[in-house]
Amino acid sequence: MSRPTQNETKAAVAEGLAPHGGIQQLSAAAARDRLVVVGAGAVGAAVAWAAAREKVAGEVVLVDPDPGSGASRVAGGMLGPVTEAWAGEPEILDLGSASVARWPAFAEAVAADAGRPVGLRTEGMLQVALDSADVASLERMAKHFQDRGHHGIELLTGAEARRREPALGPSVRAGLSVPGDLAVDPRTLLVALAAAGAARGVVTCRARVTRVVDDGERVTGVEVEGGQLAADRVVVAAGAWSSALHPVLADRVRPVKGEIIRIRARRSSPPPPVHTLRTAVEGRPVYVIPRTGGRLAVGATQYEAGFDPDVLVGGVRNLLADVEKALPGIGDYALEETAASFRPCTEDNTPLLGPVGPEGLFASTGHGRNGILLTPLTAEALTAVLRGEGLPGVAEPAAAARATACV
Ligand code: GLY
Repeated sequence: MSRPTQNETKAAVAEGLAPHGGIQQLSAAAARDRLVVVGAGAVGAAVAWAAAREKVAGEVVLVDPDPGSGASRVAGGMLGPVTEAWAGEPEILDLGSASVARWPAFAEAVAADAGRPVGLRTEGMLQVALDSADVASLERMAKHFQDRGHHGIELLTGAEARRREPALGPSVRAGLSVPGDLAVDPRTLLVALAAAGAARGVVTCRARVTRVVDDGERVTGVEVEGGQLAADRVVVAAGAWSSALHPVLADRVRPVKGEIIRIRARRSSPPPPVHTLRTAVEGRPVYVIPRTGGRLAVGATQYEAGFDPDVLVGGVRNLLADVEKALPGIGDYALEETAASFRPCTEDNTPLLGPVGPEGLFASTGHGRNGILLTPLTAEALTAVLRGEGLPGVAEPAAAARATACV
């Protein structure tokens, strides 16, 4: 969510609320049974769509100064619980696995409401090793996940990996095929979610929320630049900006910068890969996610740099040099875009989901590296708590009411 100037925001408030005659009029309407979702990235837009679809509120209002312009727009879109897993974080693997299992049905439901596809890709993931230490690490990964009952994971020699993915170069020494790790184009998803939400009656307001307002016991609405919007329930889905919106979220989400590049195969280039690919060079992870039209997203750097928006030369240089080691043909590709954004990270790398603080306040943030992956499970979990049920069992480790802080 980039920050517009005050004038841009005022214009946007007027534009976003025009069908309702302006923010004052919307505020004056009965706020009872109004749900405000703050933040129209993939998570917020999916929560708003699911809440409207399940009719958990009389009115669902999605508020964002520039919908779909934050971390979701820059995200790679890997749906890779296995290849993103870290030893010692089994709950995160379980959350991701539960969510990737929901992705095909979620994609179908969003696409049906939107009347357009969401950009899901099911070719699967290939993790490749370029040196002997990484070959050993792939062998350990294969055993670990096979022992945990993840089916279909297969260790490949370099030659086998190249047979499956001819774009891989001769330096690839081994591969791990993870067919259950999928991918999606987040920009296609954002457009589909906006259309699906609108089809279900979600009202989108282009305004920047400055804080959630409560009376000490329960939520009464949100303050936006240019006015107040009354609501009896508020979901904070503002990604890396969430901590500023209510004291109960202060210090619980921090920005972790990531840079990504987009390249495109030209007519003269070697054909682009069809699988999502991952590798590591000198410990730096790099991944490649195929898009349509011969395009590839290549990501991503990771820095603790606060809200520094600059794309660094060194970041782009490393991404290009590292990916070229696995995919030697990319030197002939066109460089189309470089971008940076901010992953919303928590201290324990687990999202913050569900009720927190005053009655009527809900968190749907802190998804770190896994926001796009966790979107379907998050939408389901928030819909459940908004209906007055508890979080689904698998999402309980992510309960926002647990004690964490980023210090
Ligand atoms: N999910 C990959 C990343 O955050 O770079």
